[in-house]
Amino acid sequence: MPPSPSLPELLATVAAVTDLPALDAVEQEIFGRKHGVLTLRMKEIQNALPEQKKELGKKMNVMKQTLTEAVERRRKELELASVASIAETDRLDVTLELPKKDRGHLHLIPQFIAQVEEVFGRMGFEVAEGPEIETEENNFNLLNIPEDHPARDAQDTFWITDPSDKSKPASERFVLRTHTSNVQIRFMKSHTPPFRAIFPGKVYRKDADATHSPMFHQFEGLMIGKDVSLANMKSVMMEAIRELIAPTAEFRFRTGFFPFVEPGLEVDVRWQGDEEESREGRWIEIVGCGMVHPNVLRNCTIDPDEWQGFAFGFGVERMIMIKHQIPDLRLFYQGEPRFLKQF
Ligand code: PHE
Repeated sequence: MPPSPSLPELLATVAAVTDLPALDAVEQEIFGRKHGVLTLRMKEIQNALPEQKKELGKKMNVMKQTLTEAVERRRKELELASVASIAETDRLDVTLELPKKDRGHLHLIPQFIAQVEEVFGRMGFEVAEGPEIETEENNFNLLNIPEDHPARDAQDTFWITDPSDKSKPASERFVLRTHTSNVQIRFMKSHTPPFRAIFPGKVYRKDADATHSPMFHQFEGLMIGKDVSLANMKSVMMEAIRELIAPTAEFRFRTGFFPFVEPGLEVDVRWQGDEEESREGRWIEIVGCGMVHPNVLRNCTIDPDEWQGFAFGFGVERMIMIKHQIPDLRLFYQGEPRFLKQF
């Protein structure tokens, strides 16, 4: 049997180790339960003369202590070295912040809608959504929009089923929704008042110029209760405009006609940009609103003698245009980074 290594030899072995797995192996060689150097030495002590045992035991403890410390010290050194070498070989530091200019972000429309949800959330409105492909019934009939109303005209509405084919009922004829008011109907049919909610989403109309796009965004709102009044509606509209456009935004209420509200109002906000001569000082309509028509409540099995309230529909792009003085609606959809980056 080879003589067991001395303390200086063991310390040298520990110091010579160059990586963590090797250190684990050396540790096992020294401290291993069955064949470790120290374990074997302990056994020798048991065989020693009684008067030598105490002395040998002390020596063993010192040796054990010294080696334990040496192994731990070496482990720390090797761990540090391995972190340092990762830094050298792997130059990608995932904890570093990316340069600002390369960062993507939400398009300004969903950004704005998130803000709308936040502002109305504070006023107690929940958020709901409805389908963009809608029945003629939910998009028109139940909203009290008569058969011959110009809004139904094939020139304004994108029909999915043939508008001239009257063989099917309105519940089986489909359009791309022309407004988010369809969600009013769906919400009222499926909820019991009182409630307040907003319904953001895309809407479609055959219209295209600097202030009209065949697809644009609206958010509808609805508040129904026992004594919800026109005054409540006015204050919600004013709060929303000040929060979402500017605290100093100038606006005016005008009477307006929508078959599903009575009375109906329109709200205009004054264009604030000065770079666009033609719009200077001009009023732009951003919202239609009013007290929900009793027929509409009835269509949704809500008793108009017991419940009343208001509905409104904001044009999202129009609001953002006024807020940021964007002269042309088409800029929203062109995907031009120099434009989008500014928001
Ligand atoms: N649906 C109307 C539009 O698209 C807006 C509106 C909503 C008006 C609710 C009154 C009440 O123009």
